[in-house]
This record gives sequence, C-alpha cells and structure tokens, in this order.
Amino acid sequence: MFGVSLQIFLIITPLSALGVQCHGYYSNEYIRSDFPPDFIFGSGTSAYQVEGAANEDGRTPSIWDTFAHSGYYHGDDGDVACDQYHKYKEDVQLMADIGLDAYRFSISWSRLLPNGRGLMNPKGVEYYNNLINELLRYGIQPHVTLVNYDHPQALEDEYGGWVSRKMVYGFKLLEDFIVYADVCFREFGDRVQYWTTVNEPNVYSSGSYDTGITPPQRCSPPFGGVNCRQGNSSTEPYLVAHHILLAHASAVKLYRKNYQERTSLRRGELMTSFLAGKLHFLLYLQIVCRVLDPLVFGDYPKIMRKIAGSRIPSFTKLESEMVKGSFDFIGIIHYAVYKIKDNSATLMTEPRDYYADQAVKLVSERDIFSTDELPITPWGLEGVLDYLKQVYGNPPVFVYENGQLMQRNSALEDTPRLEYIQAYMGGVLNALRNGSNTKGYFTWSFLDVLELFNGYEIAYGLVYVDMDGPDLKRYPKISARWYSQFLKGQKIDLEQIIEFEENISALPS
Ligand SMILES: *[C@@H]1O[C@H](CO)[C@@H](O)[C@H](O)[C@H]1NC(C)=O
Ligand SMILES: *[C@@H]1O[C@H](CO)[C@@H](O)[C@H](O)[C@H]1NC(C)=O
Ligand SMILES: *[C@@H]1O[C@H](CO)[C@@H](O)[C@H](O)[C@H]1NC(C)=O
Repeated sequence: MFGVSLQIFLIITPLSALGVQCHGYYSNEYIRSDFPPDFIFGSGTSAYQVEGAANEDGRTPSIWDTFAHSGYYHGDDGDVACDQYHKYKEDVQLMADIGLDAYRFSISWSRLLPNGRGLMNPKGVEYYNNLINELLRYGIQPHVTLVNYDHPQALEDEYGGWVSRKMVYGFKLLEDFIVYADVCFREFGDRVQYWTTVNEPNVYSSGSYDTGITPPQRCSPPFGGVNCRQGNSSTEPYLVAHHILLAHASAVKLYRKNYQERTSLRRGELMTSFLAGKLHFLLYLQIVCRVLDPLVFGDYPKIMRKIAGSRIPSFTKLESEMVKGSFDFIGIIHYAVYKIKDNSATLMTEPRDYYADQAVKLVSERDIFSTDELPITPWGLEGVLDYLKQVYGNPPVFVYENGQLMQRNSALEDTPRLEYIQAYMGGVLNALRNGSNTKGYFTWSFLDVLELFNGYEIAYGLVYVDMDGPDLKRYPKISARWYSQFLKGQKIDLEQIIEFEENISALPS
C-alpha cells in the first residue's frame, strides 16, 4: 500500500516528487525577444463568465444558469456578466490596444443549439462569427473551447449530461456532443485553428460529481456537500472523466477526418506538423495522469485500476486506440502549488470516494473559496512544464490560464497581479530554456468576469469592469499596461509603472 501512495504522490505533486527546487530568478530582467519568435501571448475568458445576454436571442439555460439561480451559489449570476455579447467590438479593440496575440474564449452550447441538439440558432452563429471576424481583423488568434462547465440544462434534464454515454459516444456521428462539435467545426473551423474540447475535465469531474459543489451538484453521502442531488461519489467522477475522454477523442477523430485538410487547403497555408489539427485536451496537473495517461499511452495508470478497481471504466481496444494520441497540444491551467502528505489509511475504508482514492491529505490547504491573494511560486509552473517534458514526451503546451486574484474593488491598482504574472512568465522562460515545448502563455482573465467560486467578489482581470455604472465601462489596469509594454517589446520600466499607478488612481473607479 505504501508504494501506492507514493505513486499518487508523484502524480499529484510531481514537483516535490522530482525534487524541483526554487531556483533562478523571476524578475523583470527579460524582454519579449527572449521568448521564441512564434511564442503566443494572450488572455482568456469563458462564455458564461463573460457574455451575459443569458436569456436573449434564443439562448437557453446551461447547468451554470440553473446553479446560479438555485440559491446554492454565491448570489451572483451571469445574466448580464460583462455583456461581452453586446460589447465584443469594444473588447477586441482593447485587446488590440494591449497588443494580445490571441484570445481564449468558449462557445455557449445552449446559445448555438438551444435544445442541446437539432436546429441551430442563427443568432448564436452570427454572434460567434462576429466575434471571430473581429478578432481576425486585428490579427488576434481565436483559441476556442467547446464546453467550459456549461452544457445545456436540457441535456442534463433528459439523461443526466456527462454521466450518460448518450452525451458522447460516437464512432458514428450521432451523439450530442459530437453533433455540437461538428456544428462548431463546420461553422467556424475555416477561421479557428486552435480548439479545446472540454475545459478542466479533472476538476469538473471531481468538483461536480464527488464533492458536488459545482453544477450539476451530484454526489452521494457520506461524501460531498449537503446539497447533493442524486449521484455516486465513488463511481461518477471516474465515469464522467471517461465519457469526456471518449467525447474528446471522437471529436478529434471527426475533425481530423472531415475538417483538418479542408481547413488548411482553404486557408492555403502549410500546417506545421507539431500543431496539425490543433485540438487538444485541457487538464489541470493536479491529477494529471487520470486523463493524460490515456491520451498519451492509451490507458489509465495501472495504479488507478489497482485502487479503484471496477469503479474505473475500461476502454475497448478500439477506444484505447482512438484516445491515444488524440491531441496536438496540451493546455495547462496553473495557479498555485499545494503541499500534500501521505494518507494511505484512507485506502482501508469502504466505500471510498474519488478523493479517498488519492490517499493523500492536503497540508496548508488553501480553501477554494479563499479571497486571499495567491502566493507567488513560479517554480511550480516551471516544474509542471518540465514534468510534461520528462514524463509525457515533451508535447506542445499552451499555458492557458495563470493569474492573480484580488478583491474586485481593488480596481486599477493591481501591482500584485503584475508581479505575479511577471514572475510566472519568468518561470515559463526558464522552462523554455531547459527544453520545454511550450508554445504560448495566456493570463486569466482578460476582463473581471464572474468567477466560478466567488462571483463578482474577486477578480483576475487585466481590465476592470465597472459593474455599478449603467454601461459596464472598461478600465485597463496597471497589469494591462505592464503586459502591453512587454508585448510591444519594451524594456519594462517599473518606475514608469509606479508613476502610471499614481496617474491612474486619479481616475474614477
Ligand atoms: C455507487 O456505485 C457502486 C458501484 O455500482 C455501488 O456499489 C454503490 O452502492 C453506489 N453508491 C451509491 C451511494 O449509490
Ligand atoms: C532541466 O531538464 C533536465 C533534463 O530533462 C532535467 O533533468 C532537470 O531537472 C531540468 N531542470 C529543471 C530546473 O527543471
Ligand atoms: C502621468 O501623467 C503625466 C501628466 O499627465 C504624464 O505626462 C505622464 O506621461 C503620465 N505617466 C504615465 C506613465 O502614464
């Protein structure tokens, strides 16, 4: 049993296991040209968190709309959010002013296909076409996610969403996720080169099906919160991750078969081999092997089967072949380092949930609802990138989220955010210099969006949104100014930033 927990230990904190130490320095001693010339810098949001217009132009509720209005959530909702649905032109102009190479956003499934399947909503298609075209007008690359925690409530009601194979499984193109993906590839694939299938499947499957704190709030006693509706914390976290893997792989297969060549021909471009297809699977390194091993090696780690036994679904040979290699790059979302210690005693208990299966305890646990600023430990991200290099064959990687939370009302004076981003970008540079195949870095988030754990109380944005004013006016913060200077190749002048800070604090907020 002890060897078991060590393995898991390695899975969860590869950093500690590999003995990566804090080293080097992470200062303002670098400029953009220290990164490879084709390295992409961007920022991101997701549909429910930023779009608003939740009940407009034919959109129907996603599971997040239902949750936000259920009374189990923070009290805020995404009905209006940042209203990017109406203000996308202004936002893209801001991105261009800052100098972003890329914008990462997600499509609202229930805006595009209001019943989850069937007839397309022309207004939905029009909105995403407008947004994509506006981005391209300024030379900003769209990086698009298909599902960011927000599948249609209609499908949840009908068959339980991701717990059902109906959502996903398709060698034939009949199932709902595949049909949705097909619509997206068909409508937008001529202009979108970078697709993500499902955001953070490892976090989603545990948060929504074991602890049940996020929608659709499934879990089972004695695990999970008091608000569980149905569910099974011992099995569903595995089942859902499995279905998402199959959905992902089916979508990639479809894309490679029907779209990839057409797209590149239509664009008249030579696809570079390392990004051909440009579909990938997002993961959060916390439980990385759970989804990454099947993608790279074709099956779950043996140790997982040993611990969870028949609670982990099996791949058929065909499925395993389909899942293996079904990505062109890996998206990494990283905010902080968590210390853990062995807790293999949990492996003696029955029934166990997915967390007990991990056989570790978090020490110095940071509450996920904490509104304190994150500690700055850029060697964490550096270690993650190096781990992917060493254990998973150095796949191309985009750092898709990284950023610092602050109280929302801290408004424009966000020097701690600037310091965080600056340090982490230094960590990425260190990893690159040590051979990592990282291709880009995206801050979370572009605007102050609805945050999934704390509503509008905290924010990560480069740009402040005045929620109290009638027209949700945008104000770039000091971090936006810093990022912009960096992106434009200037040597960062901290004194100038402090002067800017003084100037800017005279602005309304
Ligand atoms: C969860 O599923 C397992 C395996 O099917 C079963 O043994 C267990 O009783 C279920 N738990 C609940 C709470 O339904
Ligand atoms: C740099 O890469 C080498 C070879 O992969 C590895 O052994 C070493 O731990 C890496 N160093 C850091 C600081 O990540
Ligand atoms: C601060 O304001 C002064 C006076 O308006 C201006 O000259 C200066 O360029 C500003 N500094 C920065 C860094 O924006």
